[in-house]
Amino acid sequence: MQQGNTAPEWWRSAVVYQVYIRSFADGNGDGIGDIAGLRSRLPYLRDLGIDAIWINPWYPSPQIDAGYDVSDYRAIEPAYGDIAEAEQLIAEAHAMGIKVVLDIVPNHTSWDHPWFQAALSGDEAARARYLFRPGKGEYGELPPNDWEAIFGGPAWTRSTNPDGTPGDWYCHLFAPAQPDLDWTNPEVIAEFEDILRFWFDKGVDGFRIDVAHGLAKQEGLPDAGLRSGRKDRVDHPAWDQDGVHEIYRGWRRVADQYDDRVFVAEAWVEDNDRLARYLRPDELHTAFQFDFLQAPFVAPVMKATIDDARAAAAAVGAPATWVLSNHDVVRHATRYARSQPDHAVSSIWEQARWHEGAPDLALGLRRARAAALLTLGLPGTAYVYQGEELGLPEYEDMPAEARQDPAIKQSGGVQIGRDGCRVPLPWSGTEAPYGFSEGSPQTWLPQPADWAHYTAAAQEADDESTLHLYRRALELRAKWLQGEGFAWVEAPAGAFGFSRGEVQVWLNTSGEPIDLPGELLLGSDADAEPGTLPSDAAAWVRV
Ligand code: NOJ
Repeated sequence: MQQGNTAPEWWRSAVVYQVYIRSFADGNGDGIGDIAGLRSRLPYLRDLGIDAIWINPWYPSPQIDAGYDVSDYRAIEPAYGDIAEAEQLIAEAHAMGIKVVLDIVPNHTSWDHPWFQAALSGDEAARARYLFRPGKGEYGELPPNDWEAIFGGPAWTRSTNPDGTPGDWYCHLFAPAQPDLDWTNPEVIAEFEDILRFWFDKGVDGFRIDVAHGLAKQEGLPDAGLRSGRKDRVDHPAWDQDGVHEIYRGWRRVADQYDDRVFVAEAWVEDNDRLARYLRPDELHTAFQFDFLQAPFVAPVMKATIDDARAAAAAVGAPATWVLSNHDVVRHATRYARSQPDHAVSSIWEQARWHEGAPDLALGLRRARAAALLTLGLPGTAYVYQGEELGLPEYEDMPAEARQDPAIKQSGGVQIGRDGCRVPLPWSGTEAPYGFSEGSPQTWLPQPADWAHYTAAAQEADDESTLHLYRRALELRAKWLQGEGFAWVEAPAGAFGFSRGEVQVWLNTSGEPIDLPGELLLGSDADAEPGTLPSDAAAWVRV
């Protein structure tokens, strides 16, 4: 019998913990995280107080893009375990009151997927499930259009015919190992609805939809022309096309045949009005609020972002979905560790280079703790990326030869890649692998030599640690911060406060301390003078 958050529409206020399974915990000593490791750490997650976990892709994959290149959607990557273990994990999580959300990758398969292999061998029905097109130029030697891949270079690779001659090109918005599916093909639609049912039948509570804004392409695949800014946010024939919405209406009909399942979209679209279109009542339930993630640690900018996000979500009856970090962006403890711009940062994907100079990690952590209380104090769903509850920074100095993100090579080194936020978690001990693995294998990505004080065990022993801050916050959130109630209160410049019933949430980025009303429930700065909130800090007070 499932315990925990059994409220209907639990996802409107849930705290979801993102498990990047490759780096969460290694149960079999090969240096790669797995289901056994995750199962062994479920009590840690229960004690943290989260409502659900979202597990990054755990399907068989050649791992060219860390599992976002799926070769079988109904099985488990052998390095992570097998279906029986996945079922055990789901049952154990449910028994602890933790829901399980999976990642689904519908825009592209792996080039190892049987469909793509059949397509390469000339099977016409299989080819029609992907976007094969003849090349331009006299000999078909040029890509069919000017689209660029997100990881750099053209979004097209030329295939080889079974007889060895150069063939048509296939579209891939990411790596060549990730061929895009043709979502106008009814076989593709039917297949994914069936995959959803496969996992829903196993008790899975929802899906995070990878690249939710990419599935539908403009008819005729026209050139994009010269564009500036993020490749997948602006008006572009490959992104945020109206055709995606009919796909999600179909998915919603599938989910609605089960009790209380949820979708969360990863959709990097132009603005919150575009995002809200994915959240109409017959489409998806939630979508990550990336404007909030891209906001600098500057109160007025954060405040404007919150207002905009809340208004757009409310217009379609959806909850806002807050997130500070994930496996694609520089960890916020490092983003906040340098001087902050006074505007949102739009190039977050490539942003490891968004600021020069050494980070002030103490300042970054101080702000990250404040941002956590802000995020967890807002109405709506909140996502916590594994390791942020330990205050982990980005591993910016990871040696180049250890890095594995395909974006580095594909962009010709323009992108530094996302490995720095994907480092195996430090659990205990004073040196690598910090309890991540049984034994001391080489972990799949290296861990920094100076992470002993970040381990969960070290923080367990320190009452003022970030781990304890998150635990207390989640406990108090469950007690005091439920429901939709929200109103701004008057605040000095460079700070803001909002009330949620009896509780007020305050953030100060002004550079000066401000006075705090009421009785302190929880503060991000344990050394604050009573009745005041220093700069770069947040607090929850009862008024
Ligand atoms: C978004 C995922 O979060 C990212 O990690 C991946 O590389 C791309 N989609 C492609 O699937």
